[in-house]
Amino acid sequence: MRRFERSQTSRITVDECEALLLCSNNYLGLADHPMLKKAAMLAAERFGVGSGASRLVSGNMELHTALENRIAAFKATEAALVFNSGYAANTGIIPALMGRGDIIFSDRLNHASIVDGALLSRSKVVRYPHNDMPALRRLMEQADAGGRRLIVTDGVFSMDGDLANLPELVAIKKEFNALLMVDDAHGTGVLGATGRGTGELFGCQHEIDIQMGTLGKALGSFGAYVAASRVIVDYLINKARSFIFSTSLPPAVLGASLAAVDVVDSTEGQRLRQCLGKNTLRFRNALNASGFDTMGSETQIVPVCVGQAEPTMEFTRLLLEKGIFAQGIRPPTVPAETCRLRFTLMATHTERELDEAVTAIAAIGKQLGVCR
Ligand SMILES: Cc1ncc(COP(=O)(O)O)c(C=O)c1O
Repeated sequence: MRRFERSQTSRITVDECEALLLCSNNYLGLADHPMLKKAAMLAAERFGVGSGASRLVSGNMELHTALENRIAAFKATEAALVFNSGYAANTGIIPALMGRGDIIFSDRLNHASIVDGALLSRSKVVRYPHNDMPALRRLMEQADAGGRRLIVTDGVFSMDGDLANLPELVAIKKEFNALLMVDDAHGTGVLGATGRGTGELFGCQHEIDIQMGTLGKALGSFGAYVAASRVIVDYLINKARSFIFSTSLPPAVLGASLAAVDVVDSTEGQRLRQCLGKNTLRFRNALNASGFDTMGSETQIVPVCVGQAEPTMEFTRLLLEKGIFAQGIRPPTVPAETCRLRFTLMATHTERELDEAVTAIAAIGKQLGVCR
């Protein structure tokens, strides 16, 4: 693990080196935003630092409900429920809704927390080839018709930066009378005209039964939520074990998350999304023009495929010498042979920083034989 000595901004000190940060999920720069910091401090001042217990015992504070109401309004759903992390959400929601005799259809590139949630549920799990809609349809036709069916997908695939085909998934879920769950960890706050995520981008957010998102990435805070119908949320309160059996989120985090939703939903949020979009295009186009394989990225997550683990980690090391930090990603996070640098853009990067970074990345890429 690398050691960071300051807050999570686009310029960092990592292991005593000054560097440009190109691998943080703090896409809008909110992790260091003055409004979030102030809200966290005020919440701690008023409510203390710990929540004291699980929500169902004595840890249910007015801030939890305020955040859930704010998220439900933001996502235009009947209700919302906050979880302690995205990992806790997926390993809580999926086993609560699905059990023995049910079938989960899960994209092969879904996040590990979805994989683990599906395993915990004791349902049959059918992993369909990545974003392959005809294959999913075939697998659903072949599957046993008894029991419940859930299709689950990342909205933005976390290591590839491409998008799920949500319109087609909505059509398939209707055809086969299945539930659809979208993990929008990397779309929340970023995608869609108003930052409501991948569902908004495709104009189908009301067709998604279970919209999960995280508060620790673009929203700069910590935790996760599910936005869904009242019935589903009530059911999760009573059945999701990671919700029931864990101390609830603390006040400072809840205060920061409330402020984060306000920023995302404001003209400032709009401006930050525009900056992020511009930065993403500039950076990805320049990498493609330099001959890198950016693996079909369509978002602020821009991977560069290197292949084997050793040159990938060498790439990271050489980049850090040039003042750029981008962590290499290896198995088990990605399949062997597809080790990569997973670059992520922030709204707060400047054009100059990005242009200089691409020059350095291209020079090292050539040296290692990764690009032309
Ligand atoms: C798609 C996806 N889902 C869930 C998670 C887990 O979220 P958290 O970091 O809040 O546990 C991540 C985080 O890396 C993710 O990329």
